[in-house]
Amino acid sequence: MSKLFPLGITIIIPLGVIFLILSFPLTSNTGPKSFDPKVFQTDEIELLTAKISEVDSLLTDSILPILADLKGSKEGADKLEQNMMKMKAELANFKHILPKGQNNNKIDELLALVPGDQAWLDEIQDFILLQSSLNNLKIRWEPDIQRVQKGQRMYKQLCMTCHGKNGDGVPVTPEKSVTVPADAESSVLQVRPRDFTGITHKDKKVVFKFISTEREYSPALEDDLRNTIKSGLPGSPMPGFTSLSQEEIDALVDYIKTFAYLTWKYGNVNPKVYVSPKPPHDLEAKVRIDKGRQAYLTLCMACHGDIENGKDPEKDKTVDWVDSSGKPIPIMPRNFAFEPLKKGKFQELFNSIRLGIQGTPMPSNPSLSDEDTWDIISYILHLRKMANEGKLPHKKN
Ligand code: HEC
Ligand code: HEC
Repeated sequence: MSKLFPLGITIIIPLGVIFLILSFPLTSNTGPKSFDPKVFQTDEIELLTAKISEVDSLLTDSILPILADLKGSKEGADKLEQNMMKMKAELANFKHILPKGQNNNKIDELLALVPGDQAWLDEIQDFILLQSSLNNLKIRWEPDIQRVQKGQRMYKQLCMTCHGKNGDGVPVTPEKSVTVPADAESSVLQVRPRDFTGITHKDKKVVFKFISTEREYSPALEDDLRNTIKSGLPGSPMPGFTSLSQEEIDALVDYIKTFAYLTWKYGNVNPKVYVSPKPPHDLEAKVRIDKGRQAYLTLCMACHGDIENGKDPEKDKTVDWVDSSGKPIPIMPRNFAFEPLKKGKFQELFNSIRLGIQGTPMPSNPSLSDEDTWDIISYILHLRKMANEGKLPHKKN
């Protein structure tokens, strides 16, 4: 046993050094607060990637062999664990921009070497996955400085009052955050402007709601942002900028991306793009509406309300964005009969139902068939028609 103590020290020292090396480039990861071309000249990730491969060879060349000796030592394992945890906590700052880790033989090697505490082994496994992910990072986007500068000028004029000087969704004019658009029937459509930096998101992720990629924290595509900027989100304060040219919208999108520079530069590797099917021609058929109503009552009513009987959607649903005290901000499910839809085209509705709305309680419904999904959409359209014709109890509040 006495042999184990010096061996523990031998491990802790290199690990401590690795930790110090690692902590340097990890200090900031949210990209430029306001656009500054100089920012693009330094590249933290490239630095980090280099450091990671140093760690990688250290792990293979010196740590693994020592671990082999340490097999079964509780004391050595505890110290190693502490260091690994620290490194992992630092690396976790980068998780949101990483593609899924690739399997790595070293994990199996480690598992074979160090039987014992599963939690600790999981930590090491995570760490190594993270490492291999970093090694696999690919540059996906480089900003075009001139276009970004043009976007910055437009952003200041058109978007900043709501989305904030730093792109964090903290409005320059406070009352903008609670503007209720003239076309809205109800007072519950208030919603905070999107944070393009991720700083107000509970997991510090850059999350967009209306996207065409498969979910769990999926990236938005540039086209998703272009569409939203052009059409706006009816029933929210986000206006449509219909008169902007394609070039102007591209410039805005590029500028928005600089608020989460690293995420856009390295994230989005091979996003799985989802394309909604074409709508059928018989969306108004009674049989569809009836089937849609049944599905709605089971799957949707709990949140969206028993609209035909004049019941409002459920209050107090919360989104993943938090206020300054860390409390999630409430969001209301739509009342399909009386409120404007943020994305109301047939295929957009299909997308929201199939994929869910990221950052909100609106779930995905991967097991609903295409036909069942269109039936529900038929029912939603039917509700809107009935409301237009004054045939539904009008909700009051
Ligand atoms: C009057 C306030 C207001 C203005 C002006 C405004 N926005 Fe928004 N924007 C919002 C709000 C509020 C949301 C969030 C809506 C929601 O979550 O449903 C939003 C959301 C967004 C989103 C996120 C969409 C998603 O899928 O999550 C983008 C992108 C966006 N705005 C871009 C812009 C750009 C670019 C401009 C300027 C050209 C702009 N906005 C101007 C209020 C505004
Ligand atoms: C757990 C609660 C919950 C359930 C269950 C739920 N939704 Fe939602 N849904 C929401 C919330 C909250 C929103 C608002 C998101 C936003 O605007 O940010 C929403 C938004 C939507 C939208 C987007 C509307 C727009 O403005 O474009 C559609 C479409 C939708 N839901 C359909 C459905 C359907 C169909 C079902 C059942 C299959 C369903 N939802 C089940 C909570 C829910």
